[in-house]
Amino acid sequence: MKQVEGKVAFITGAANGAGFGMAQIFSKNGMKVVLADIRQDSLDRAMAYFGKNPNVHAIRLDVTDREAFVRAADEAERVFGRIHVLCNNAGINLFVPIEDCTYNDYDWVMGVNFGGVVNGVQTILPRIRKHGEGGHIVNTASMGAFLPSASAGIYTASKFGVLGLSAVLRLSLYKYNIAVSVFCPGLINSRIYESEKVRPQKLASPQNTARSQEFMDILPKIHEAGISPEEVGEKVLAGIRRNDFYIFSHPEFKEELKEIFDEVLNAIPEGEAPADRLAFEKTRRDALKKAREEAGTID
Ligand SMILES: NC(=O)c1ccc[n+]([C@@H]2O[C@H](COP(=O)([O-])OP(=O)(O)OC[C@H]3O[C@@H](n4cnc5c(N)ncnc54)[C@H](O)[C@@H]3O)[C@@H](O)[C@H]2O)c1
Repeated sequence: MKQVEGKVAFITGAANGAGFGMAQIFSKNGMKVVLADIRQDSLDRAMAYFGKNPNVHAIRLDVTDREAFVRAADEAERVFGRIHVLCNNAGINLFVPIEDCTYNDYDWVMGVNFGGVVNGVQTILPRIRKHGEGGHIVNTASMGAFLPSASAGIYTASKFGVLGLSAVLRLSLYKYNIAVSVFCPGLINSRIYESEKVRPQKLASPQNTARSQEFMDILPKIHEAGISPEEVGEKVLAGIRRNDFYIFSHPEFKEELKEIFDEVLNAIPEGEAPADRLAFEKTRRDALKKAREEAGTID
């Protein structure tokens, strides 16, 4: 989407960190922006930044609440008309070894980080398809979608899920002139260490909350070394304009990624596949390649 001026973006988790950075930069570049977030205190602070800008609108939304998502999308359309860009960015983190995680931990982290993306797609994609002007979906994953973290196990699983869903959406939506990106950042100077503040009571896991919070307490210092929300916004906007599927922001992971991909390639058995299987795989591979190329031509 080379021309973004006047386009409408719906950003989840937009009141802090990465999402707020996207909102700032999109708005600076002439877009109309809906900030959707579960935290009213953060929405108030974010809206104070934008002052009386009529092209920025805040909606309190829990992305796991499907009915509320529909109401939020209705409100966004009432205020700005058609939605063109959907940033499924809301996310939380939990630092508990996977073997000690509870069902509540799974339901909370998967529900927000993966389920929130699903709900965004299910609610807003049909609206973008319907207006027919094209669009762009950006899903925030993480470098954790490639580099598993033993201390943030469910988080890692949720981000692998976001990566997989994004890849499939890209291959499915180009025919409607809708591009898809997956944003995979490393450290961001954000407030993700406050995640426990938005854990719903019904998904409480007191022992793990306390445990994770111990780790979270040292995170503000670590996160200060992260890239700024504004840099996030610039990177994501550039990715939207160029129609990049992968939006990376941190150069320092290249070597580690190479080690992971080398491990995968080295694990593939040597030898030849039978001819009929090869023929089937060639058809599949050619179709996939064509879809990827066509997805890359949307502008
Ligand atoms: N901070 C990092 O270093 C880092 C690294 C890689 C990926 N990410 C990803 O970036 C995204 C944004 O996180 P951030 O670092 O900016 O954190 P953040 O906490 O600063 O911002 C996330 C926002 O999401 C909101 N949120 C949480 N649960 C929600 C829900 N159920 N419904 C609606 N909003 C909800 C929070 O209130 C918050 O405003 C997340 O998906 C996160 O996983 C962050």
